[in-house]
Amino acid sequence: MIEFRISDAFVDSLARLTGAEQKAVKTTAFDLQMNPVNPGMQFHRIDKEVECLHSSKELLVMVDFLLNNAPEGCLVECGSYLGGSSAKLSLVAAATGRRLYVCDSFEGLPQTTGTDGDFSDAHSGSPHRFGAGDYAARREVVEANVRRSGNIEVCTFVQGFFSDSLPKLLRDGPIHPAFIFGDADLVGSTRDILRNLWPVLLAGGRFYTHDANLVEFCEGIMDGAFWQNDLGQSPPVLFGAGYGLGFQAGGIAYLQKR
Ligand SMILES: C[S@@+](CC[C@H](N)C(=O)[O-])C[C@H]1O[C@@H](n2cnc3c(N)ncnc32)[C@H](O)[C@@H]1O
Repeated sequence: MIEFRISDAFVDSLARLTGAEQKAVKTTAFDLQMNPVNPGMQFHRIDKEVECLHSSKELLVMVDFLLNNAPEGCLVECGSYLGGSSAKLSLVAAATGRRLYVCDSFEGLPQTTGTDGDFSDAHSGSPHRFGAGDYAARREVVEANVRRSGNIEVCTFVQGFFSDSLPKLLRDGPIHPAFIFGDADLVGSTRDILRNLWPVLLAGGRFYTHDANLVEFCEGIMDGAFWQNDLGQSPPVLFGAGYGLGFQAGGIAYLQKR
C-alpha cells in the first residue's frame, strides 16, 4: 500500500490553473506516483548516495529555471566535487534533451592569491576560508557517482583548472550554454568561468553561483574593472547577492544574459 501525500501548496497552486492545465498536472502527478522507478524521488536518493554541498532547495531553484524559462542550449557545471549536483543536473539535462558539461580540476581548489578565499557570511559575519586542494574528488569517483545516480550518457567531463580547461573546451568546438552553474568557492576561479563562458552564454540564459552568501566573493566577481577589462561591459545585476533566492536557497544568485 503506497501512501500519497498532497501538500497544501500543491492544492493551492492547482486551483489557480485552468481546467485543461489542472488535468495535465493531475495526469503527470499520477504517472509519477505509479512509476515503479519513482523518478520524483531521484534527487532525494542522490542526497543519500552522494555527499552534496548544496541544499535541496538551492538545486531546485535552478531546476525551476531550467524547466520553465531557460532557452534551448547545453548546461555547464563548473565545480562538481563528488558529483552530487552533477548527477541531479544530468537528470534534468536528459529530461530536457540537453548536454551537460561537468568541469572540474578533480584535484580540488587551485592556489589562491591575495585575500581570495577569505570571506565573511552576509548574514552572520562568520568567516569562511577556502584554500588549495579543498574539495578534491578524483574523476573516477565523480564519474562513478554520476553513472550510478544520474545519467552519464548526457555528460561530457572537462578536466583541468578552468583557466586552461575552459579555453580548450571552446577551442575544441562551439558550445551554446543556456545555463552555467559556478560552484567554485573562489573569486579567481569564478572570474575564469565568467571570462570564458559569459561571452558564449545564450541570450536569456543564466549564470548561477552557489557562493552568494559570501560578501567579498560577490564584490570580487561583480568588480566593475574586471567586467570592463575582461568582458567589455558594465557588470549586470546579481540577483540574490548576499541573501540568495528564498528560504534555504541562501547561497544561490544569478546573472541573466540579455
Ligand atoms: C564546493 S565544491 C562543488 C560542490 C558541488 N557543486 C556540490 O554541490 O556538491 C567546489 C569544486 O570546485 C572545483 N574548483 C574550484 N576552482 C576550480 C578551478 N579553478 N578549476 C577547476 N576546478 C575548480 C573544486 O575542485 C571543487 O570540486
